[in-house]
Amino acid sequence: MTTRIIGTGHYAPEHVVTNDDLAQFLDTSDAWIRERTGIHMRHIDIGEGTTAMAAKASIRAIENAGISPEAIDLIIAATSTADEVLPNTASMVQKEIGNSHCACYDLNAACSGFVYGLNTAHAFIKSGMADTVLVVGSETMSKIVDWNDRSTCILFGDGAGAVVAARDEEGIESVVMGSDGRSGDIIACDARTMENKWGARPVKNPFMIMNGQEVFKFAVRKVPEAIHELLDQAGMKADQIDHYILHQANERIIASVAKRLGVPMERFPVNLFEYGNTSAASVPILLDEMNRRQLLKRGDKVVMAGFGAGLTWGATLLTW
Ligand code: COA
Repeated sequence: MTTRIIGTGHYAPEHVVTNDDLAQFLDTSDAWIRERTGIHMRHIDIGEGTTAMAAKASIRAIENAGISPEAIDLIIAATSTADEVLPNTASMVQKEIGNSHCACYDLNAACSGFVYGLNTAHAFIKSGMADTVLVVGSETMSKIVDWNDRSTCILFGDGAGAVVAARDEEGIESVVMGSDGRSGDIIACDARTMENKWGARPVKNPFMIMNGQEVFKFAVRKVPEAIHELLDQAGMKADQIDHYILHQANERIIASVAKRLGVPMERFPVNLFEYGNTSAASVPILLDEMNRRQLLKRGDKVVMAGFGAGLTWGATLLTW
């Protein structure tokens, strides 16, 4: 027995900010952003927040799975931009979808968050601790980026993607997860509250800071490594995979991973031109778009992979 994805959904805010919009207040241009990243625009939240977006994506995934919300026995919300410290995002999603009993918790592994969540769901299902798990990645990156920092803010967008994962005979074949906290300062952002009645921890990074070139180097080295580990576990070769659904951070990173794996770029779907980097939401948004366009056929081999702050990485190989 393993874990199959039986439903997908996503939600992105209606408000769109183009590269030209950013050039109105930043020293940048549409040409520079397109050429260096592949991004043309991003959806930006103007007041809904991470929980509401997560709930909308989740309701769509549950409808797509054709199950009752009460059938879900675990909700994992992957986010590093929760609206509230308490209660957790997953419990608030639970309320919105109409489930009143299941376990709920949040997981923060930055842009690897959705893949971490799916792999965790698989562990629960394999161990017999859960049968049906809702995994949702939702992010309001727009509230943690510095809109005066042209080297980071141009990359990010807001949105949510969700899947329903359930016990089945075919599905997940191998998983990889890892982190190297020694490089934690390459992408960082402090929590908003840093003081109590007796003292304060100095705030170093009130908004996200990032060493773009170091992240780029990490991603093009680590993602192929993780995928090779994933393929080896399953006894498969890179060219046997039909779809590589990678974290949508930068088109040049995706192209470099494709080259290093020796797989044509056509097997690496890309939607970052519309969304930018939506962190934990990027993989499930793309997965849902492909599912709804009927680009995923039963029996297709799918690899998903994420990487991000931590520095974390994660990958999953499954039969659709
Ligand atoms: N518009 C115009 N110029 C910009 C700019 C912008 N938005 N952002 C940076 N620049 C400038 C820099 O100041 C620099 O100018 P200089 O040569 O005069 O110093 C020049 O462009 C080149 O900067 P550099 O950082 O070398 O560009 P790059 O090709 O590495 O691209 C990133 C920068 C951020 C797009 C790229 O490094 C990247 O995508 N890294 C990965 C980031 C990522 O994916 N993070 C999330 C991971 S989950």
